[in-house]
Amino acid sequence: MTQKTTVVDIKARKKTGPPITMLTSYDYPWALLVDRGGIDMILVGDSLGMVVLGYPDTISVTMEEMIHHVKAVSRVVKSALVVADMPFGSYNVSVEKAVENANRMMKEGRADCIKLEGGRSMAPVAEAIVRSGTPVQGHIGLTPQTASALGGFKVQGKSAEAARALIDDAKALEAAGCFSVVLEAIPAPIARMVTEAVEIPTIGIGAGVHCDGQVMVIHDMVGLFDRFTPKFVKQYARISDTITSAISAYADDVKNRRFPGEEHSFTMKTDELDKMDKNQ
Ligand code: KIV
Repeated sequence: MTQKTTVVDIKARKKTGPPITMLTSYDYPWALLVDRGGIDMILVGDSLGMVVLGYPDTISVTMEEMIHHVKAVSRVVKSALVVADMPFGSYNVSVEKAVENANRMMKEGRADCIKLEGGRSMAPVAEAIVRSGTPVQGHIGLTPQTASALGGFKVQGKSAEAARALIDDAKALEAAGCFSVVLEAIPAPIARMVTEAVEIPTIGIGAGVHCDGQVMVIHDMVGLFDRFTPKFVKQYARISDTITSAISAYADDVKNRRFPGEEHSFTMKTDELDKMDKNQ
């Protein structure tokens, strides 16, 4: 029987290695492929809004949309730890509301844990959710939900002062009980310092090779999202090209009556067909 990855397994990997793997998924077919691929954690990220729902950013994503997709992923995953992203507005109103929404991710979505964005300012929220029984993954550096407050989608921690603030953020999340923390878009040497400053695993995205693990948006990784490609994305395939040529070939076959072929069509007994001729 497949063994389900737990937050305890993830925490232990900081000491034992190898580096932790994490990818996003938002629905049944992708979660199936990612889980079969042996990835340690599947993030149902609020990047859902951009790569699946076509929103301009992640701000509009709702709890209902997240739960719908978390359910689809949880239904199929056998091995990976399923991390549900808390959308903007679901945890920054009050601690009570945050705990209530984290409970929904677990109870309705059947997630294994949640992720939320923010450092020291969100530590009390993370702590309350952890105390209520839901494991929490933090997310600091470039936090897309508050990108406008950060002055846009920019690399964070580039001054000594900002870098020290990132270390303080990671320590605050660790003290709050988070089992790991995502570091997004920060200089590699600073990500290394953050990684060395805490006992919990750091999961990097645009944060260099010295993090304890790496995460990427699956649509970026396989070339299925072409509105823009951040510098930190490595494209391992360009499946949008493959899909587009399959669609063109299908359209061409239909227009030229090459599809369906006999092998895709149903037959019937000739005597029954003959009766049709006689009845006409
Ligand atoms: O929503 C998401 O996909 C994320 C990753 C970029 C870490 O938060």
